[in-house]
Amino acid sequence: MLAINNIEVVYDRVILVLKGVSIDVGDGQITTLLGANGAGKTTTLKAISGVLRSERGEVTKGTVQLGDKRIDGMRAHDVTRLGLVQVFEGRRVFENLTTEENLIAGGHVQTAAAVKQGIDLVFSYFPRLKERRHQVSGYLSGGEQQMLAIGRALMSQPKVVLLDEPSLGLAPMLVEEIFGIVSRLVKQEKLSVLLVEQNATMALAVADHGYVMENGRIVLEGPAAKLRDNSDIKEFYLGLNEGGARKSYRDTKHYKRRKRWLS
Ligand SMILES: Nc1ncnc2c1ncn2[C@@H]1O[C@H](COP(=O)(O)OP(=O)(O)OP(=O)(O)O)[C@@H](O)[C@H]1O
Ligand SMILES: [Mg+2]
Repeated sequence: MLAINNIEVVYDRVILVLKGVSIDVGDGQITTLLGANGAGKTTTLKAISGVLRSERGEVTKGTVQLGDKRIDGMRAHDVTRLGLVQVFEGRRVFENLTTEENLIAGGHVQTAAAVKQGIDLVFSYFPRLKERRHQVSGYLSGGEQQMLAIGRALMSQPKVVLLDEPSLGLAPMLVEEIFGIVSRLVKQEKLSVLLVEQNATMALAVADHGYVMENGRIVLEGPAAKLRDNSDIKEFYLGLNEGGARKSYRDTKHYKRRKRWLS
């Protein structure tokens, strides 16, 4: 469905941030992209959705393919029209608008009938939003705002959704609830999702396939079930060592550095 082939991304014409990144997002699957702060995850999503252009960033090598169309270099709204939408980090909703108004704003390119249908669909997956449909979204909880950000993206009737760290700052139970809904959406609405996360445990629990990014490169890739068992992932991203004990972040970082020296 979505194929990123060996892309390189440069900001301000000189700062090389992505170095030969390739990712395949399977049809009707959840693919997760894991990595620490500054690894280049958000940049990858922006390169795909076309918003990079407005941030002085550029795909200087490689291609991004959506179905049989090449979309690298396209404008964000043209990419959206082709069925790909990005949900931004930090759940940006229009705080002064109600839940329902936010959804209407998300469906602005459509007919009134399609907007109504979209709202019904969003409310059927996110009943909490239905209960709060007339509430100003600035007063929604963090989890509800994340639901609204995803719901708004659904209003453009996408085939592919890019999610940027939806778990950020949310309690584990809420993350589970949201990921559960995303899983159902993927199955029932035939969506394909690229899920960027730092929370590897949560992400690998729902994903089909995963990639790990470090310093703008993919360093590990595989089926989610395999990655869950991978000792490096356990150690670096889940913070567990062989015995299952939790390692401190500092220990893990130290080990990682040592390992780099040795490799
Ligand atoms: N507009 C920009 N101009 C210049 N450099 C940028 C720009 N945006 C991001 N960068 C740099 O690119 C690198 C990757 O940033 P990116 O936001 O893609 O990381 P990330 O993996 O999403 O991190 P986080 O988990 O903190 O969100 C960082 O070193 C960052 O400083
Ligand atoms: Mg980011």
